[in-house]
Amino acid sequence: MVLFSRFVVVLFLVTVVSRFSLANARNGFEVVEHLNRLNKPSLKSIKSPDGDIIDCVHISHQAAFDHPSLKDHKVQMRPSYHPEGMKYESMKGSSENEVQIMTQLWHSKGSCPKGTIPVRRTKQEDIMRASAIKNYGKKNSLSSVAQPNSIDLDLINQNGHQHAIAYVQGEFYGAKATMNVWDPQIQQPNEFSLSQIWLLGGSFASDLNSIEAGWQVSPDLYGDNNTRFFTYWTSDAYQATGCYNLLCSGFIQINNEIALGASISPISKYHASQYDISILVWKDPEQGNWWMQFGNGKVLGYWPASLFSYLTESASMIQWGGEVVNSASDGQHTTTQMGSGHFPEEGFGKASYFRNVQVVDGSNSLKTPKDIDTFTEQPNCYDVQTGKNGDWGSYIFYGGPGRNPNCP
Ligand SMILES: *[C@@H]1O[C@H](CO)[C@@H](O)[C@H](O)[C@H]1NC(C)=O
Repeated sequence: MVLFSRFVVVLFLVTVVSRFSLANARNGFEVVEHLNRLNKPSLKSIKSPDGDIIDCVHISHQAAFDHPSLKDHKVQMRPSYHPEGMKYESMKGSSENEVQIMTQLWHSKGSCPKGTIPVRRTKQEDIMRASAIKNYGKKNSLSSVAQPNSIDLDLINQNGHQHAIAYVQGEFYGAKATMNVWDPQIQQPNEFSLSQIWLLGGSFASDLNSIEAGWQVSPDLYGDNNTRFFTYWTSDAYQATGCYNLLCSGFIQINNEIALGASISPISKYHASQYDISILVWKDPEQGNWWMQFGNGKVLGYWPASLFSYLTESASMIQWGGEVVNSASDGQHTTTQMGSGHFPEEGFGKASYFRNVQVVDGSNSLKTPKDIDTFTEQPNCYDVQTGKNGDWGSYIFYGGPGRNPNCP
């Protein structure tokens, strides 16, 4: 068995190395090493219709435990507490429009047994698309987070990331929202479009802590234009720590149904059926770990408190909204869309939304936030609006088409 797997590695290495000049052979070894770090032995593998392979990996063999601070970590199989005030939410969008429940594409081909977690297998070509192996699975800079308090808008615009977000500031122990899911068009493979919740701790400096979750389209990261469910974390402003999904050690998954980075299906259609997902992230007041729940009660796993500095206390800002990369490759603004690709004014069924937006306060209770502010770098390209009503509580419409006559 050992011999056989070595043989496979050697064969594989030959194909990797042959893609490079001999001078780059070391790079080939590094790719194989990195793949071996990410792809743990599995009990079962499932081939998804979108080309993904989902490996069912034993919970205690997941990559999280490669993290130096998690070597002797004992997996927590459930949070000690949920936030108070969780209520059953009917999957109803509005009186005229039902909202449907979504699943992941690979579910049509099988399921992972209890005691395992579904892991999207990283392929050689996934890593090859990254500018460097160490950049694979990472956002590259502090510009990945909107800085509503920054006075230097020119500086913000230069780095190409654009946001349309709603945000609150204070002392928070969690955040929740239900967001509808779209498939925005991406102009360049090195651009992306995502919609997510950010939980931020610290100042917008080199030690910013962030926990993020939502959906994204990112050709460079996944090799296609599918809409995928994702998470992100960093404890040093996107520098050395953190990554998307399970692409570095950190997040500990316990759930056997939802694969991070897997395609979402179905997707909302313009002026037709709307599909949305609910995400709750909260801090366990007893253990200090940050937990994530998906939908109505699927607890996915947690970020151990030891990964963070500021977030071992609380989050100081929560953001909900979208982010795109505008590489302006042809000298004009990108046509990459945010959300549905339509402006907030168009409303339900057409624009992208977050509804029932809530935060967790110091008494571990879910509350509708009081003062929601909005921020966008270029409202003519991507915009954001907030509102309140009975069914939807606090809600946000956001997004836009990117390049248009008012956004040249
Ligand atoms: C993604 O979509 C763009 C157009 O928006 C297209 O040019 C590109 O070929 C697509 N990429 C893949 C991998 O399907």
